[in-house]
Amino acid sequence: MLNGLHSLAREKDQFVFNQSGYRLIEHLMAHFAHEEAVLIRNGYPLVDAHAIKHKDILDDVKTILEGIVNADPVDGMDSAILEIKFLLLDHLIDDLAYKNFFSEHRLCCPG
Ligand SMILES: [Fe+2]
Ligand SMILES: [Fe+2]
Repeated sequence: MLNGLHSLAREKDQFVFNQSGYRLIEHLMAHFAHEEAVLIRNGYPLVDAHAIKHKDILDDVKTILEGIVNADPVDGMDSAILEIKFLLLDHLIDDLAYKNFFSEHRLCCPG
């Protein structure tokens, strides 16, 4: 999930950065949709709450990316990347909850 950020971090061009941002959002949407499908298929009881967290992350990432349009190009991109990294790293902890559920119930192949 963090792969998209590596390309963001290398770019200092606003246009390319925006394109990378859209690719990151598309990647996150696909990742979250797949994860939610796996959770539903395996009867994870907290899937609705987890899906709300995914939606909140997407909203936050979009807000951060939109915010850099008016920011200093270099500083704005660097702080946006940092903010997005914190958001995604923070969510890895939320993902641990369903991974523990899968492990306890001996289910296969969480997202
Ligand atoms: Fe998740
Ligand atoms: Fe995930």
